[in-house]
Amino acid sequence: MSTEPAGDRRAEESRTCPTEGQAAPSHGSLVDAHVGRYAVRAKDMAASEIRALFAVAARPEIVSLAGGMPYVTALPLDAMGDMAGQLVARRGAAALQYGSAQGDPALREGICEVMALEGIHAHPDEVVVTVGSQQALDLITRIFIDPGDVVLAEAPSYVGALGAFASYQADVVHVPMDDDGLVPEALAECLARVHVAGRRVKFLYTVPSFHNPAGVTLSARRRPEVLRICQRDHRGRAPRRLGAGAGRDPRQAGARRGGGGAVQLQPDPARGRRVPRQPAVA
Ligand SMILES: Cc1ncc(COP(=O)(O)O)c(C=O)c1O
Repeated sequence: MSTEPAGDRRAEESRTCPTEGQAAPSHGSLVDAHVGRYAVRAKDMAASEIRALFAVAARPEIVSLAGGMPYVTALPLDAMGDMAGQLVARRGAAALQYGSAQGDPALREGICEVMALEGIHAHPDEVVVTVGSQQALDLITRIFIDPGDVVLAEAPSYVGALGAFASYQADVVHVPMDDDGLVPEALAECLARVHVAGRRVKFLYTVPSFHNPAGVTLSARRRPEVLRICQRDHRGRAPRRLGAGAGRDPRQAGARRGGGGAVQLQPDPARGRRVPRQPAVA
């Protein structure tokens, strides 16, 4: 007998959604009541790999090395409880109320201060606070991707990002990597191949530090090279846009501090900012 929760089983079993006229799949008592009502974009949607992974990883008898689970037992729970109590006591009315959709201004300033320690200089107006990287990936993909647009990504690539790209019908073209991260020559070749085919590349999604799942970090020598290739492509193919979306996990940011920082993937501010002062999403 399966110990898997019914919800996860149902998600697994309805990997493809039937279109109108097709019989509703029946899995015992689990019948899809919404057949024929799905949006066209749902046709290729599948149950998220992350959901499947965490359904297994959450079982008490499983020690999962697959998911990036935070080591919560190392968190100072007493201190965090105190902080939550103080927040509600001092700023409860503001903290529990709706706020700026872009994110609390003081929080955005704080984020800029932390990013500056990492060599990324930004203005709080350029920061949008999301509920996690998945919302950011979804927003970026929704804003930039039309069905059939090409997204370049390392091979392999972070499964959550691939899910977001797939849900907007992006065509992901993978760029090889080695022990030093993304291979710049391979990136240039990929770009050329895609353009020769008359396809439209919108952005490069890369995880330059502590890559998930490859575990490698893009070498300091390659970082400006990757940026240069993207900028050259952007300049040469206006009005096509191509930027380097550097995916990184803030939980891993502190790991670099004190250990000799790698150059961040950010265009030289002296050469003009590419990011509009007002964010596209608010
Ligand atoms: C590259 C990468 N992006 C995003 C995430 C998830 O981040 P969040 O919990 O903020 O959605 C992970 C988690 O492992 C990751 O490896």
